Amino acid sequence: MHFPALSLALLTCAGTTLAAANTTRPYSTWMASSFLSKGQAINNHYVASVIHEGIQKAATLHNDSSLLAYASNAVSSIVSSNGTLKGWNSTFYTLDDIRIGNNMLYFWDAEGRKEKKYEIAAKGLREQLNRWPRTPSGGFWHRAPIYKNQMWLDGIYMADTFYATYVSYFEPTNITAWDDIALQFDLIEEHCRNHTSNLLQHGYSEDKAAVWADPVTGASPHVWDRAVGWYFVALVEVLQVYPADLPGYSRLHEYLTTLADGLKRAQDVSGGWWLVMDEPYPGMKGNYIESSATAMFTYAYLKGIRIGLLEASYKDVALKAWDLMLDDFVQYETNGTLSWTGTVEVGSLSGNATYEYYVGVKKALNDGKGAGPFMYAATEIELAQGL
Ligand SMILES: *[C@@H]1O[C@H](CO)[C@@H](O)[C@H](O)[C@H]1NC(C)=O
Ligand SMILES: *[C@@H]1O[C@H](CO)[C@@H](O)[C@H](O)[C@H]1NC(C)=O
Ligand SMILES: *[C@@H]1O[C@H](CO)[C@@H](O)[C@H](O)[C@H]1NC(C)=O
Ligand SMILES: *[C@@H]1O[C@H](CO)[C@@H](O)[C@H](O)[C@H]1NC(C)=O
Ligand SMILES: *[C@@H]1O[C@H](CO)[C@@H](O)[C@H](O)[C@H]1NC(C)=O
Ligand SMILES: *[C@@H]1O[C@H](CO)[C@@H](O)[C@H](O)[C@H]1NC(C)=O
Ligand SMILES: *[C@@H]1O[C@H](CO)[C@@H](O)[C@H](O)[C@H]1NC(C)=O
Ligand SMILES: *[C@@H]1O[C@H](CO)[C@@H](O)[C@H](O)[C@H]1NC(C)=O
Repeated sequence: MHFPALSLALLTCAGTTLAAANTTRPYSTWMASSFLSKGQAINNHYVASVIHEGIQKAATLHNDSSLLAYASNAVSSIVSSNGTLKGWNSTFYTLDDIRIGNNMLYFWDAEGRKEKKYEIAAKGLREQLNRWPRTPSGGFWHRAPIYKNQMWLDGIYMADTFYATYVSYFEPTNITAWDDIALQFDLIEEHCRNHTSNLLQHGYSEDKAAVWADPVTGASPHVWDRAVGWYFVALVEVLQVYPADLPGYSRLHEYLTTLADGLKRAQDVSGGWWLVMDEPYPGMKGNYIESSATAMFTYAYLKGIRIGLLEASYKDVALKAWDLMLDDFVQYETNGTLSWTGTVEVGSLSGNATYEYYVGVKKALNDGKGAGPFMYAATEIELAQGL
């Protein structure tokens, strides 16, 4: 790290643009098995969903039957044979609790199993969306009643990726549903997008009742990296299943490509991205390069390229971020496991949403909101490299 010219030369000799020392052991399954050794539990909370999705992606790519059995059994353990999802409250409306639906749909589809209990549980979540409290323009409230009339970028990942995947399996010709999914993104774009930087503010308050709401757009004041990370990933995941012949498709695709441009321009020379991304905050006292969003952006760029949504030229952006993650965010423990550092615990619009608030939140070790996306990114790097 102190001799960038030398390390670049070494990497070039090894015939790869990536850190070459550990290529015999894929980082995806390495981080996944490290997490198993830490004994984390599953429930219907989105952080558990993300960790288990990371494990499942790593296991599937490397055909690791014991890791895959772990992920499959974990998801199965929270769905009763009659299709009741443990911990789910059908009258509590928080978008965070919808994300687990993606884990269920994965194992519903995997190996053609079509297990009825997953279909029933997923249908429960789908029907809950039909009852969801909405803003006057039709956006899902982030959480009721506390975040009334608010949409956050995070919520798009939590709910609309499930909504789209479910509809692609069970209601593929439901145009009303496809339009409704695109509307969620349209509303975020209308209120949160900065057309100069091409980045998006964290969220907006449609009735402008939140203390932080911009008097014109209702937007919150700052661009928070993890919210943008969830949103970038959501665009890739939703476009993967969205019918290309519907008008919503080209709008979503434009949202993705313009954000890809904004993120490339916002990338720090280190390869990572700042916690608070809007000018003039990058580099300011208290701000730092944050690991969860760096992992999410890397994943979404690589997957977006792989499935033909983004130009291949963005690969350099992702590879630079990947190198940073291996150097700075992956921690090599003496017992051979990996830990994950540098992830901010939370970023919420429940308070004043000021710069001081965001940079005042602590970082956590082995936070699944960062380690899960690192596993996602690692699977894409390994796919790209044929590892
Ligand atoms: C490879 O892994 C070892 C621990 O097994 C670690 O010390 C080393 O820094 C890693 N190297 C790279 C380039 O990631
Ligand atoms: C390996 O070391 C880390 C860090 O000390 C620890 O958290 C983890 O539980 C250890 N894992 C095993 C399998 O001993
Ligand atoms: C995956 O591993 C199993 C055994 O664990 C083997 O039967 C199967 O052929 C492998 N599949 C692929 C695609 O490598
Ligand atoms: C489904 O099974 C769970 C756990 O076995 C039980 O608590 C619940 O009452 C059952 N629900 C229905 C509708 O049968
Ligand atoms: C479900 O959520 C509603 C709304 O927040 C709440 O009033 C109710 O007590 C919750 N039910 C359970 C069983 O927790
Ligand atoms: C189609 O989607 C709309 C909006 O989500 C929903 O209200 C309706 O029940 C769905 N129709 C069918 C047949 O599933
Ligand atoms: C939009 O981004 C530009 C460039 O970073 C910045 O100068 C401007 O203040 C931003 N606008 C808002 C409303 O945040
Ligand atoms: C905003 O909240 C943070 C704590 O979350 C506090 O430190 C800061 O002083 C508050 N700023 C304003 C302007 O109220």
